Amino acid sequence: MITPQTIQQITNRIDIIDVIGEFIKLKKRGANYLGLCPFHGEKSPSFTVSPAKEIYKCFGCGKSGNTITFLMEHEKYSYVEALRWLANRYNVEIEETEVSAEVKQQQLAADSLYIINNFAQKFFTEQLQTDEGKSIALSYLEERGFNDDIIKKFQLGYNPQARNSFATAALQQQFNVEVLLKTGLVTNRYDELADNYRGRIIFPIHNNTGKIIGFGARIIGKAEKAPKYINTPENEIYVKSKILYGSYFARQHIDKNDECLLVEGYTDVISLHQAGIENVVASGGTSLTVEQLRLIKKYTNNLTIIYDGDSAGIKAALRGLDMALEESLNVKLVLIPDKEDPDSYVNKVGANAFREFVAENKKDFILFQLEVMMKEAGNDVSKKNDVVNRIAETLSKINKAEDFTKQQEYIRQCSSVLRIDETGLTTLVNKYKRDRVAKEEKKLPFEQQPPLQESGEMPPDETYLETSLLQQDELQERDVLRVLLELGLKPYKEGITIAQYIFSELEEFHIESPALEKLYELYRRQYEAGLEPGAKTLLYHEDADIRNLVVSITLFPYELSSRWDEKTETVVSVNKDTSVRDAELSVNYMKLRKIKKMFDQNQQDMEHSKSFEDQMRFIEIHKHLKKIEMDLMNHLGSVIIK
Ligand code: GTP
Ligand code: MN
Repeated sequence: MITPQTIQQITNRIDIIDVIGEFIKLKKRGANYLGLCPFHGEKSPSFTVSPAKEIYKCFGCGKSGNTITFLMEHEKYSYVEALRWLANRYNVEIEETEVSAEVKQQQLAADSLYIINNFAQKFFTEQLQTDEGKSIALSYLEERGFNDDIIKKFQLGYNPQARNSFATAALQQQFNVEVLLKTGLVTNRYDELADNYRGRIIFPIHNNTGKIIGFGARIIGKAEKAPKYINTPENEIYVKSKILYGSYFARQHIDKNDECLLVEGYTDVISLHQAGIENVVASGGTSLTVEQLRLIKKYTNNLTIIYDGDSAGIKAALRGLDMALEESLNVKLVLIPDKEDPDSYVNKVGANAFREFVAENKKDFILFQLEVMMKEAGNDVSKKNDVVNRIAETLSKINKAEDFTKQQEYIRQCSSVLRIDETGLTTLVNKYKRDRVAKEEKKLPFEQQPPLQESGEMPPDETYLETSLLQQDELQERDVLRVLLELGLKPYKEGITIAQYIFSELEEFHIESPALEKLYELYRRQYEAGLEPGAKTLLYHEDADIRNLVVSITLFPYELSSRWDEKTETVVSVNKDTSVRDAELSVNYMKLRKIKKMFDQNQQDMEHSKSFEDQMRFIEIHKHLKKIEMDLMNHLGSVIIK
């Protein structure tokens, strides 16, 4: 884990205008900066960045957050990746806390794999320009229509035909042999390291942040004896089920187009990119995994699968369909005709015709599946019955509340294709849904856990804030936290900070809202550890709940004190520092609120009390509370609270 000290160093240096300005054009408007929102299409700018608060907010789509959440959202980084990006930019050396030996070992292994892959990519790219490379590999790529720019962009390369040209270069670098073997680039042959991908074109495979996690290696020419492609074996960084080839180059285009095109092969991805169709990734021809679908879902809900018509890949993709529905993806299918694949087809007809073809031939995947199954069933009644059941089961996987209308629409269309009664199909769909729920409940009797929260969660939107956060009691507590976050480190009196004043004043009161209490305790722990907490640093805390809360408190401050000012102007001593006054008002107002609540409770208890002793006790409490209330009111400048 990155140490809190490093995080603080990073956050101290962050300049939100500088960071966001790297990705979008910002213009100064008064105290803020304005630009076109990168999260929704707009013509006039409503994306506002406040350098003072280190926060951005779009008044068009409502998205808001801090520098880190911006990087997470815009660049699809994880929290830690965003921190690393910033550390790199501001030259902060990252210090990590001790991790377990096992984790450390794994990190070391992953780091060395990245280093070797990086070296290998450079080596293979260079080999493309040697005499052998030019005549065997580059000429092949050119023949297939790939231009220099696209070869560079995808970092394509060549592994020479000699037994061990890469192995020798790698050993010269003194890479660890065990790790070298793990990359799959070399293998042990007769007690010597030899190259595994001899005489092949090399396709580096990048992860989402552009690091090379592995390689695909294609034979040159026809594959008769050897496999056409060889891929990296699974290791610490190459996890097949999580990889979508091309995602690094496609992610922003998928986001912008709100659609992800999925093809089977490396060459399909590259040719489409070259043709200017850049929102495209490849699955490698196997069935889609949940992890891959979730990766797509980070950018869009619309998945369009483009396969060649008689590919085995369609069957594989069909197997992933139910999963895609459960993930609420809208899946469309386009079949490329005449034994072509997307690569050969786009080369044949050109980019515009390809686009048109896709737009005109998009089929709904569920209806497509139904068609295929109906054709297979023919006139066989029992087979048709199976089809009805299978489609009902598929439709029952459309399960999220927001997808209800979609499900209804499918039931309508499918029952019409099947020529069966709509209500009948509805009943069947519901039966499958119930069966599954019953089965899942049996499977998880006790330890049903809520799904893991994505660390990249954004702050809740404003309507949510208004209805759930701005409940009366919480307002005062929020204001105290605002004061802590904004003014806590300022002096209250000589030798005492405002934070210390608040800690001692609130010793006997506790914060009722669990979320606010968590933030309060965190602040206190950091303060006591000498970490100088505040809005600026807690904005970057690793816990998304904390970050969101800090953003919402500073974005939507309920500044009690400003309201008080209007009423108390004449009463509050004018020469007091405004932060001290702010703190006192906030604390006392919260206390007053709590006292009033105790008052009401006591009143109720008194009314219900049965014995004389009890009544006397409640009267005592009443007097005591009254006195505290009076003191507080005096302190606040004898303003009447209703
Ligand atoms: P080109 O023939 O170069 O255009 O490649 P392609 O992508 O059209 O190949 P194809 O449609 O045959 O295969 C699609 C994808 O499946 C490839 O990009 C590979 O990811 C994978 N694949 C194909 N052949 C093999 C193989 O022999 N072994 C493995 N492991 N994967 C393969
Ligand atoms: Mn092909």
